[in-house]
Amino acid sequence: MSAKPKLAHVVFQTGQLEAMRSWYCTLLDAHTVFEGFGLSFITYDEEHHRIAFIQPPIPLDSKTPVTAAMHHTAFTFPDLDSLLERYAALKEQGICPAVPIQHGVTTSLYYRDPDGNFVEMQIDNFDTAAAATAYMEGPEYGANPVGVGFLPDLMIEERAKGTPVEALLTRSWALETSPDLPNPLAALTS
Ligand SMILES: [Fe+2]
Repeated sequence: MSAKPKLAHVVFQTGQLEAMRSWYCTLLDAHTVFEGFGLSFITYDEEHHRIAFIQPPIPLDSKTPVTAAMHHTAFTFPDLDSLLERYAALKEQGICPAVPIQHGVTTSLYYRDPDGNFVEMQIDNFDTAAAATAYMEGPEYGANPVGVGFLPDLMIEERAKGTPVEALLTRSWALETSPDLPNPLAALTS
């Protein structure tokens, strides 16, 4: 079998390149590597560009809930406190999640970029892919593969009180502490 390729970058076609580039640079704490000729390349890690944008010299149709297109990109943080730290920093700049979802397998914050694309900022709830896969093959995930809403600000409060991370990364914690949140699937398909 030949070598397995790794995902290198994602490119968005947009009619508002500057707004998209600025938003993603803020979200990902990224910087511009090259920009010009209707193109922009940004990165935040060892890759020379992780995200890019192309603005063709023609008007574009807006994405709508019935557009067949990529649903979201996802970025993983190393731990819950890192994710919550980024959440709080973005909130201070007026960037808030469209919907936080406790998937069970991941703890995820879904944002919407200026074009309406979703971006998931997440952590893995399990230490190994095998443990995550076992959870996805289990009854809780089988009965509801989307998950439930949760309140990230409450998570920040609990961490400040010293509540262990493990106690917060479950659907049961989300349901006990915020039982009246709407079905998160509606937000992801609107
Ligand atoms: Fe995802």
